[in-house]
Amino acid sequence: MSEQLQEVPFWLKDNFAPVFEEVTETDLKVTGVIPSELNGRLLRNGANPQSGYSAHWFLGNGMLHGVEIRDGKANWYRNRYVKTPLFLDPDADVMSSLADMKMSSANTHVIHHAGKIMALEEGHWPFVVSDELETIGPHNFGGKLKGAMTAHPKTCGETGELLSFGYSVSEPYLTYHRTSAEGEMLQVEPITVKGATMIHDFNITRNHVVFMDLPVVWDLEGLKSSGLPVIWDESYGARLGVMPRNGTDADVTWYEINPCYVFHPLNAYEEGSKIVVDVCRMENAMKPGANSPPMLYRWVIDQDAGTVSETQLDDRVVDFTRVCDTVVGLKNRYGYAAAFAPRLPVAEGFMKYDLDRDSSEFHDLKGGQGSEAVFVKDPNGQAEDDGWVLSYVYRPEENKSEVVVIDSRSFDQEPIARIHLPVRVPAGFHGNWVPDGY
Ligand SMILES: [Fe+2]
Repeated sequence: MSEQLQEVPFWLKDNFAPVFEEVTETDLKVTGVIPSELNGRLLRNGANPQSGYSAHWFLGNGMLHGVEIRDGKANWYRNRYVKTPLFLDPDADVMSSLADMKMSSANTHVIHHAGKIMALEEGHWPFVVSDELETIGPHNFGGKLKGAMTAHPKTCGETGELLSFGYSVSEPYLTYHRTSAEGEMLQVEPITVKGATMIHDFNITRNHVVFMDLPVVWDLEGLKSSGLPVIWDESYGARLGVMPRNGTDADVTWYEINPCYVFHPLNAYEEGSKIVVDVCRMENAMKPGANSPPMLYRWVIDQDAGTVSETQLDDRVVDFTRVCDTVVGLKNRYGYAAAFAPRLPVAEGFMKYDLDRDSSEFHDLKGGQGSEAVFVKDPNGQAEDDGWVLSYVYRPEENKSEVVVIDSRSFDQEPIARIHLPVRVPAGFHGNWVPDGY
């Protein structure tokens, strides 16, 4: 009998490998000084397959990690599975669960809006969790959300409205959602696109939303090559759709762009009749054998001329981009990103971009492996970058993780605080700061 050992994929080994124990540890050890203005919880989500196996990095049950910080102390670390019906039925088939909006892996992001903390995954409904990461249940906005919701809704930095969308393998392929700052879903608007594509994220500005209809199309053939039912199909074309925030399908203006894929934008904003959209652009995605790295690009949509210009802003490989919450959809000067380690989607450091001055700073993690960097504004600060950048960082030499607190005003310097965790936090996806009184 011949044995052929298959190489273990990156998402199942080293610090990508899942952890199986739910841990609670209080009174965490801290090196340095945590600013007394930081009062809340740093939460982060990721795929953590309870079986130990998943066919793709994006699959696997969601596990939340959280650290509560108050009055300069780190009160606790917790990790908890998001206990959706998919988690509670380990034999459930992921692909046949697509039509049941409660069968979420809830593994991609965690946000707060209108007093709720929600774990999100783009194929299903959000799942509400408690301050202490216990699962409460699915949230469909009082029955108004019939289909899926993206894991990347946008909370307007000015109004607090939650703007989002969902995509589907059947018509309507794309649906827009507008939710008030108080959490009432006010609009559910089917949007006409040519076919079923994977739309991971989108953009908002003060008056508009911008959809990214890009050529990663739904195709079961993709299961064989990538483990996901989507493939790169350049013949689909690539378009940006601009719609007033309270508009309808008939109001969408579509702009052709060069074929590409974008998982994550940095931010978007209006400059007169132009719309600036900064994104982590990949030449392609979900193409068998190819691995196109994301880099920071700027699109400028000229609504008068009907054109889109495209400019590369940096040649570093970056993703997991973030801005200060108060400038989401508004003009931002600064942006933060994970600077990826060679061949792996983890941060070997963080970037702070000054987009007004076309400059950047690098925070070197010196062998640590970082997650998404979350900017938290200093309530006493005036400038957009007055605040701190927080992230979970894995330390291979200890096989444990820590939360680093970097002062954004001295970004390339050592963290001002390190919160030492009792365990490792696997490399994951997205997270947020949830302040007290959220
Ligand atoms: Fe994402």
